[in-house]
This record gives sequence, C-alpha cells and structure tokens, in this order.
Amino acid sequence: MLFLGTQRINARGHLEIGGCDTADLAAEFGTPLYVFDEIALRERCRAYRAAFESRFPTVQVEYAAKAFLCLAMAQLVHQEGLHLDVASAGELHTALKAGVPAADLVFHGNNKSVDELRLAIESGAGRIAVDNFHELDLLDQVAPFQKRPQEVLVRVAPGVDPHTHRRIRTGQADTKFGFNISSGAALEAVQRVVSTHSLLFTGLHCHIGSQLFDTHAHQEAIEALLDLAAQIREQTGLSVEELNVGGGLGIRYTAADRPPSVDEFAEEITAALHEGLAARHLPVPLLRLEPGRSIVGEAGTTLYTIGAIKHVPIPEPPGTRTYVAIDGGMSDNPRPQLYDAVYTAVVANKAGAPADLEVRVSGKHCETDTLIDRTSLQRPEPGDIMAVLATGAYNQSMASNYNRLPRPAAIFVKDGHPQLVIKRETLDDLLRQDLPLP
Ligand code: LLP
Repeated sequence: MLFLGTQRINARGHLEIGGCDTADLAAEFGTPLYVFDEIALRERCRAYRAAFESRFPTVQVEYAAKAFLCLAMAQLVHQEGLHLDVASAGELHTALKAGVPAADLVFHGNNKSVDELRLAIESGAGRIAVDNFHELDLLDQVAPFQKRPQEVLVRVAPGVDPHTHRRIRTGQADTKFGFNISSGAALEAVQRVVSTHSLLFTGLHCHIGSQLFDTHAHQEAIEALLDLAAQIREQTGLSVEELNVGGGLGIRYTAADRPPSVDEFAEEITAALHEGLAARHLPVPLLRLEPGRSIVGEAGTTLYTIGAIKHVPIPEPPGTRTYVAIDGGMSDNPRPQLYDAVYTAVVANKAGAPADLEVRVSGKHCETDTLIDRTSLQRPEPGDIMAVLATGAYNQSMASNYNRLPRPAAIFVKDGHPQLVIKRETLDDLLRQDLPLP
C-alpha cells in the first residue's frame, strides 16, 4: 500500500493520519472531508527550502496558491518562510487577510483586469508577473499613480514541451501564457518595461507544466531563459536579477508513480543554472520557484462514506463489475474527468484487511463521474469510510457545487488533534447569492 506523510494503520486496523483515526474524523466532521497532514505540509515546505538554499546562493520559494488556499494554508506557508504566488484578486485577498505581507506576493495571470492590477499595486504586491502587451497598457493606467515603481517579472513562454497531460502544459510556444521568446515578443516586453518609469524590471518568469517526472523541460527552459538574459544584457545593458523557473514537480498518486525527490529536483535545476550562467558569464540571480502540487498534493486525503454498491454484468471477464458509490465525486475532485487522473483508494476502517475486490468507484453526480476506474478494495460495505489519497492539490481549489452539493469541510490534523480550517457548506449557504423573483 501507498503510505504518504504520517499515514499508518493503527491498532484498530484503521487508517490514521496525523495521529487521528480517519473513521473518527469522518464521524466528527462528516464526509466528504478534506484532511490535510500538517506535519507533511510543513516538511515539504522545509524540504524545498533546504534543498534549494543549500545549492544556490539566494533563493525564494513561493507556494502556488492555486493548488489549495484558505486562511490557514496561507498562514502555514508564511510561517514556513515561503512567499505566495497568487493568480487572482481572490487569492490575493485571502493571502492578505491571512496576514501575509503584500511584499511576499507575486501576482500572476494571463488576463488580469485593471481592477486586479490596481488591487495588487495598491496593496503593495512584491512582484507582478507581466504576461502580455495589453497588461502593459493597463499598467500604464494604474502604476504611474504610485509613490514607487512597481517591480515586475516578465513571464515568457520558453517554447519547451514537457511530457504531461496536454491540459497542464504551459511553457510550449503555442500557448496563451507569457511572451513568446522566439518571436522577439519577450525581448520587446522587457524593453518596454525598462522604458516605463513606473515599472521596475527585476527578472524573468516561466512555468512550463505540471505533474512532471523529470527535469528535462526545466533544463531546456533554463537554457532559453539564460539566452534571453544574455540578449537583454546586450540590448539594454541590464542584468536579470531574478529568475523564476515556476513549479511543476510531480507527486505520487499511485505506488507506480516515481517523481524525483525535492533534492534530486533541486540538484538538477541548480546544476543547469550554475552551468548556464557560467557559460554566458551572467551574474547569479535570485532564484525563485513556485511549487504548488508538490507542496500540498500528497499531504491531502479525502474521506468519503460508501453508499450504494452494485454488481453489473459486463461482456468481458470476470463477467461482473462492482460499482461502489461514494457521497461526493466530480464536485469535490474534478481531476479524473479533466485530466484522466488516477487515484489510490483504501477502505479506511478496514485498512489492515486484504484489498482483494476489484471495483469501480463512482461519484454521486448525475452523470458518469467515475472517480477511480479500477482499484482493489478491502470488501467495501455501505457505511464504510473510503480514503482517497494524494488529493491535496487542485481538489478543494477546483471544487464546485454541481448538483447543488455543499462543498466539503477541510481540516488540518497533527499529533492526534484535528483543526477545522474550512467549514462545510450548509444547504442555506447554497442560497447565499440567490435572489427570488419579486
Ligand atoms: N506557477 C504558475 C504560474 C502556474 O501556472 C502553476 C500551475 C504553478 C506555479 C504551480 O505548478 P505545480 O507546482 O502545481 O505544478 N489544475 C491542474 C494543474 C494546473 C497547474 C497550472 N499552473 C491539475 O489539477 O492538475
């Protein structure tokens, strides 16, 4: 079995996380329930800092808030010394309300509105990652009215194609993100930033894709960024003081997944940087990173209650398929539908028993929302608790109210203590924004 973070099977034969029995958590908080392993979260933040800070002179790790954000999560990453990548007014607002200093925020987005840019600048966001020429026009409307110039990174599309699901590639040339390097747009954008008094050019940013299992694409992207840095020096005399190489490191959704460790990832990225900088005689920049999934993904587990179980005849052997339905589905985890994501499940209150029944796990929505196509489970029965592992990233943050299901609660668990961090929505919460006809 795949055990992540502090997960273990306790004396009752139940899955335990952070010293808490998951069957007890389900009874206390209800299901579906997002459970976050606080020790595992903090360890990942620390692993990132240690791995990169020991290999590169100046480093700033930023947590990509889109993976999972609430007040408690923003507080936790801030306590661990990470900055935050925010990609909307909502993420920015959450981070600020959590007490994260605005200077620790990098504001992203491929279509920021003038209101979002104003909010970012007026609140003092540390960096804005500029994505396109239209955004530079909008910044001309907002930035000149500030006391100090706004520091910006120029987001580029380095033109590399990482091996991952097509919907989570971001750094290829044919993309909506950033300024294309090969067309000359990236250099033109830097020149325009440099000529604008209200903006201060600090460096380059790229993000190439997500759930990556090797660093080839990162290494290619670093080469492209450093070529551009050399060109910028030639054309403008300026040095690129900051390089943000994005996030992207993959995680284990199943025991077959073998992503590099954070140390291996850091070793390869920093080696590529050291070599590339030396080859071009470029000064050593501040290295910025933006991991999301690899900070929070493995630390999250979703608990469900098993309901209806059906045995359906199928033409192929063994002639029957067992459908196990849970009390959530694509509203709390849309990733199987969107990216064909594969997950590992365990019957939490029978975790010590052999997993010898092959089943298909289905959600409760009014469509075929298969959560796990094929998995072996410990003889599930109605009322059992199912744990789906590695659901910390892009699950709660992408949750919806489809079929008017209230969104689940989220808790942090540590040393046997559960802490509620997001309340479960109530039926009345679903009506919060509705207005009846007069
Ligand atoms: N920085 C930027 C600018 C990004 O666009 C992203 C993710 C990250 C950092 C964090 O990347 P990570 O370390 O998490 O790979 N919803 C999809 C993932 C989309 C990721 C998009 N950008 C999923 O559920 O797989």
